[in-house]
Amino acid sequence: MTVESVQPQTSGTPAQLREPPLAGGAVPVFGHGLQLVRDPLDFMSRLRDHGDIVRLRLGPKTVYAVTTPELTGALALSPDFKIDGPVWESLVGLLGKEGVATANGPVHRRQRRTIQPAFRMDAIPAYGPIMEEEAHALTERWRPGETVDCTSESFRVAVRMAARCLLRGAFMDERAERLSTDLATVFRGMYRRMVVPLGPLYRLPFPANREFNRALADLHLLVDEIVAERRASGQKPDDLLTALLEAKDDNGEPIGEQEIHDQVVAIITPGAETIASTIMWLLQALAEHPEHAEKVRAEVESVTGGRPVGFEHVRSLRHTNNLILEAIRLRPAVWILTRRATADTALGDYRIPAGADIIYSPYAIQRDPRSYDRHLDFDPDRWLPERAKEVPKYAMSPFSVGNRKCPSDHFSMAQLSLITAAVTARYRFEPAADSRDTVRVGITLRPDNLRLRPLPW
Ligand code: HEM
Repeated sequence: MTVESVQPQTSGTPAQLREPPLAGGAVPVFGHGLQLVRDPLDFMSRLRDHGDIVRLRLGPKTVYAVTTPELTGALALSPDFKIDGPVWESLVGLLGKEGVATANGPVHRRQRRTIQPAFRMDAIPAYGPIMEEEAHALTERWRPGETVDCTSESFRVAVRMAARCLLRGAFMDERAERLSTDLATVFRGMYRRMVVPLGPLYRLPFPANREFNRALADLHLLVDEIVAERRASGQKPDDLLTALLEAKDDNGEPIGEQEIHDQVVAIITPGAETIASTIMWLLQALAEHPEHAEKVRAEVESVTGGRPVGFEHVRSLRHTNNLILEAIRLRPAVWILTRRATADTALGDYRIPAGADIIYSPYAIQRDPRSYDRHLDFDPDRWLPERAKEVPKYAMSPFSVGNRKCPSDHFSMAQLSLITAAVTARYRFEPAADSRDTVRVGITLRPDNLRLRPLPW
């Protein structure tokens, strides 16, 4: 199958439309909820055996799950669906309603116009020196043979890169620690609230609830500090924060304080959590597949001629970039996405009623044996041009497509390439005795507690 041969199906004719089948395995009262809570990745991956779109019962609610690449593409590209639904509801508590990741309609379009220039392909080279510095600083801090706590290290470099490139934040170390601890707690709590919606129980003063509230409050305080500091400095560097502070609404009026706040949260939060989780999976892949780590090391050496890897080398690091894609394919940080139908509509041959919640899993799509030979093998060479063209359209869209597509795809790939190249040029990795690389499922996917020992080559 070629990429071009698969067109997104948006709808059949009304007479042909059917109701999606109910997925098997629902039990009274809970429906499919228990299975989703117990083993969400396996559950989402098995839904493809029940149909292209299936209905799920989550308690009293019906949710539609889309299981084929073509239909996830059609969903993401159709104007009949907006950002909403269970994941969205849980994110709004964190990101606020006025940031780009959660807004809809004209406000969302205006916000995308404000942030887009900072992420454009031609804006990325300006971030090169900061990315290089941070990637090399990471390797400088590590000591051969000493165990590295990959969770905190990955968060630290992710937060520092995003904050230094986009917000030009000073003194980010202390903030990176705070942000990473806060986000870990907040994301864990958000996920719990999403899969076990116990409503008012989360307002009771249990230790877990208190910890969640404290972390959330600190996260917002931190963003207020960043904004206040910039204002007090009187400086207006050419960066995303200046663009946000100077943004105007559709009437030409300055946007409100809440929107500025929510916008900063909406950029720094996904910028930290997704990149940090992906770095953890990359380090895990380098430890698990030493033959690929060696290939990356050799490639970096041949491209750089033994000099420190720099931004100008990133495009030539083919195997390194293929390894990153393969790590993202098997362990996508963003493993579940939601939408809500804004009108009675259709997806493929199925009828979708207005207000329906729809979910799909990039994790399940990117591991579908119908799209990938030896689908569970870690095989970076599947991204060589002659093989990559066999991958069906939308079977590998970890940054999504359409109007909600991640603005940071180029920015993220540049960060990930530099970090992977810098650490691999210097070290190979072995798991420490207490390392656990089992998947921890939350709003994002990450290893449970990855602890590696960097060793000299
Ligand atoms: C949206 C993935 C890194 C900022 C998204 C979406 C995906 C995604 C799948 C679309 C969500 C949807 O369709 O509902 C990723 C992955 C990343 C990554 C896999 C890294 C490996 C980043 C970084 C930033 C960022 C580094 C910022 C510095 C955003 C924002 C949105 C978004 C602001 C909302 C866009 C909108 O709704 O218009 N990301 N992302 N992401 N991402 Fe990323």
